[in-house]
Amino acid sequence: MLPIEEVRSRFPALHRRENGREVAYLDGPGGTQMPQIVIDAMASVLEDGISNLGGGYGASIAADEVTASGRKAMADFLNADPGEIVFGQNMTSLTFALSRALAGTWNPGDAIVVTSLDHDANYTPWVRAAEEHGVEVRLAKFDSTTGVLDPEAIIDLLDDRVRLVAVCLASNALGTLVDIPPISAAAHERGAVVFVDAVHAGPHVSIDVETLGCDFLAVSAYKFFGPHIGILYGRLEHLAELDAYKVRPAPSDPPGKWETGTQSFESIAAVTAAVDYIAGLGGSGDTRRASLLRAHENISVHETSLSRQFLAGIGQLSKVRLSGVPEAGDRRVSTFAIGVDGYHPGDAAQRLLANGLYVWSGHYYAVKAMAELGVLDEGGLVRIGFVHYNTSQEVDRVLDTLAAL
Ligand SMILES: Cc1ncc(COP(=O)(O)O)c(C=O)c1O
Repeated sequence: MLPIEEVRSRFPALHRRENGREVAYLDGPGGTQMPQIVIDAMASVLEDGISNLGGGYGASIAADEVTASGRKAMADFLNADPGEIVFGQNMTSLTFALSRALAGTWNPGDAIVVTSLDHDANYTPWVRAAEEHGVEVRLAKFDSTTGVLDPEAIIDLLDDRVRLVAVCLASNALGTLVDIPPISAAAHERGAVVFVDAVHAGPHVSIDVETLGCDFLAVSAYKFFGPHIGILYGRLEHLAELDAYKVRPAPSDPPGKWETGTQSFESIAAVTAAVDYIAGLGGSGDTRRASLLRAHENISVHETSLSRQFLAGIGQLSKVRLSGVPEAGDRRVSTFAIGVDGYHPGDAAQRLLANGLYVWSGHYYAVKAMAELGVLDEGGLVRIGFVHYNTSQEVDRVLDTLAAL
């Protein structure tokens, strides 16, 4: 069990007040808040003095150390090797860079598979690269009545021409979890590589690149209680073999060859602190990875309880329609997309916002998913996201506001 009040006391932003009461951050899918230890880690790098890499003097050695610690922390977070961890501006920029390098190995007549469930950051970079190289784009569709993306929808599109499958681990719109291992196995049988967008999964589930069997995976630290920075995992042999778009003096070996220009060392230090923060939710373990695994079990128990409460509550509200998996459990995370009969999503969201309940409405860049659901031109849906720092009282506040509509 998570000590929820103690957890919340560690996040200064959670005490923001509007109109005399605390706001509820239900916008985790768009970005989470940071605990004080992450803010402190970021600030201390700047306060202590930091120089650029490789200078061999104190403040430069600090940059080398911060970077090495960040790679180690992310390697623990993803069950990878530190040499397979690349930092970059955000997931979108890293994906554009990788797509360009991978596309250099594609030939006209090749094909790629993308999905209708994905955020546009795991769609457009691949589609643009395919268009530039005469490569066919195949679209795997999720079931718009259940919100589920069946692995078979992807596997059915595979043949020996397919070079890449790009798929999310969790949908930022509907909260659906995708069963990646069978997709990776089938793709590898056909000689394709698998890129997983785990940005939305990051705060909710434990990520293990070995179990997923993927070749590449991207996350964004600002979705898991860290700063605005992206992280790319790539299997070492791919990172070594592929031709990265880099300037000549930059390192020629991975991971450095994938890191364009100077990194945000303060953000990398904060990534380490964010991973340590999450690990701390699992108590002290023999290794950070072991603590992370227990932390995610605790997070899951709490989020599942919030999800059950929310789903039971909206089940009583005749005007509220959920898009996506209707039960809590291992097929979804605690992110919900709803419509309210008689209300434009923007207006329904406005009523929640007026009560200090921070939610989003629209398509949240899941453009294809909203089109499949038939709501793209109707203002999309209202998205309510619960992470581990949200409370049962906040769920009640949402349900009370929705009931009054
Ligand atoms: C599922 C998913 N993928 C990709 C992105 C893009 O991440 P970034 O802002 O780091 O480019 C987001 C951001 O909302 C997301 O939710």
